[in-house]
Amino acid sequence: MCGIVTAIATNNIVPVLLEGLRKLEYRGYDSAGLAVLSGELTRLRSAGRVAELAALADARQLSANIGIAHTRWATHGVPSERNAHPHISGGLAVVHNGIIENFEAIKTGLQARGYVFTSETDTEAIAHLIHSKLQGTPDLFEAVRLATNELVGAYAIGVLAEADPFRAIVARRGSPLLLGVGEDGMYAASDTAALLQVTRKVVYLEDGDLAELRRDSYRIVLADGTPVEREVHLSSLSADAVELGKFRHYMQKEIFEQPQALANTLELIAGGGGISPQHFGARAAEVFEGVRRVLVLACGTSYHAGLVARYWIEAIAKLPVTVEIASEYRYRESVPDPDTLVVVISQSGETADTLAALKHAKSLGMERTLAICNVPESAIVRETALRFITRAGPEIGVASTKAFTTQLAAFALLTLALAKLNGRLSAADEERHLVALRHLPVAVQKVLELEPEIEKWAQRFASKEHALFLGRGSHWPIAMEGALKLKEISYIHAEAYAAGELKHGPLALVDKDMPVIAVSPHDQLLEKLKSNLQEVRARGGELYVFADAGSEIPESEGVHILHMPEHYGMLSPVLHVIPLQLLSYHAALVKGTDVDKPRNLAKSVTVE
Ligand code: G6P
Repeated sequence: MCGIVTAIATNNIVPVLLEGLRKLEYRGYDSAGLAVLSGELTRLRSAGRVAELAALADARQLSANIGIAHTRWATHGVPSERNAHPHISGGLAVVHNGIIENFEAIKTGLQARGYVFTSETDTEAIAHLIHSKLQGTPDLFEAVRLATNELVGAYAIGVLAEADPFRAIVARRGSPLLLGVGEDGMYAASDTAALLQVTRKVVYLEDGDLAELRRDSYRIVLADGTPVEREVHLSSLSADAVELGKFRHYMQKEIFEQPQALANTLELIAGGGGISPQHFGARAAEVFEGVRRVLVLACGTSYHAGLVARYWIEAIAKLPVTVEIASEYRYRESVPDPDTLVVVISQSGETADTLAALKHAKSLGMERTLAICNVPESAIVRETALRFITRAGPEIGVASTKAFTTQLAAFALLTLALAKLNGRLSAADEERHLVALRHLPVAVQKVLELEPEIEKWAQRFASKEHALFLGRGSHWPIAMEGALKLKEISYIHAEAYAAGELKHGPLALVDKDMPVIAVSPHDQLLEKLKSNLQEVRARGGELYVFADAGSEIPESEGVHILHMPEHYGMLSPVLHVIPLQLLSYHAALVKGTDVDKPRNLAKSVTVE
């Protein structure tokens, strides 16, 4: 979702702004813009890609020492040059990520005072509001503070003013923003990847913080104006981690990084390490003590990880589990139980609905909270009592892959830790699970070797308009994840069903034009699934079956079988999702869609 870069330096910052925006492209956007001060205020906007904005800047030979830049993912108003940021009021320019909920009221008040709006955005109201505050105070920093105090909703903003060319102001509440402390200047951006080009020294702003950036210094204040110090972190993010390298797309790179991502995430139990609550933080044993149920809150792919975890935790730790879509939970009247372990899962740690659902659960008195997250300094991680940081590395492709499998690895550890605490895990079982977990990266590597066969399947798929995914038990959420991947990046309409539900509706859709993908592990449900597959075949449906090594499902006309290298017991869902990721990826390649930046979608959904 929208990305922000702000820079003030001794050198020309235009290349820094543009490179920062390129690094933020993965978040999802539909237009881009920048404003710089070099004597006067210059604004460039494009209702297209960052490359087009860069071409505009090149054509103008734009050069400046201070500027703000933005990638916009449309919320208020269509994607267009007119709605692209920065928005201007007098000589003042603003970029914004988030949603201002009271912007209509602010706009009406400002219009009454004569301000003219040229866009449909909520951001323009911020620009005019700051401008109006400058009538009462000559100080830009103070004007921004007064204005942000009137905003309801989420924002990360960057501001500069023609009349005040030696500083840029940034502020955040609810949307991510961090400062970069460079040798030759000061910077701010929505994430670290955008700033690695100039510095590794980063300062994470807290909700309500405002910062003034000058070439050689910065200061931060709270919403009430009180000065505050924030720690400077040295980012360990490697520049390679956000480069494509030999791969064609980030999604492909990230699919193939899964063995390493899993190995990193499971490092805690590598060698002789056993299962321990400590994996989830120093206070975990205390927080887990007396837990009687588990509530998982998440969105999108992370929600599917929670659904798999439900099967594991109920079967092994014998605790009842509820898994809820965060955007539903936050507005539903539910029955809170303080003995619930609330687990929020989020790759980014910034998803607005997940964060709000977590806060809602806490407001209901549920304080035993755990975040499973891929970004250590994210908003969600800072809100929970416990945390498990998956070590997938930066995930750039909008369609989540390695974040999902590492979330599953985290849930496997959680399941075993809860089972152990509850006296439900014998030493022999613990050892058996540990062996399987340690072998998981190798098992995933073997599945990746199936790519050439999956590629052939994808060729047939790409011409279809619909697809049905079937699974049973813990592989039903894997079917859901497969369907989500296919629709996200190839735009083929796909639905997932628990195979037992087939006759209760979706069977009516099955004919020769409806490919049916079955996730078919060699488990106790295999025979039942086979009957479901017969039902599909009898209606002329073409079957694509991902079977395990031992599954005896014969290949025949209209029944295509791909055998997975090995059956993997409890962890089988981790393996079975891999071919579905590859299938979607290759179907998208055949269709020629924008794999890493699918239309209308954003990587990090920081608005409701
Ligand atoms: C967006 C992304 C999905 C992701 C979901 C939840 O929709 O495109 O890939 O699964 O947000 O994101 P989170 O960062 O909370 O896991």
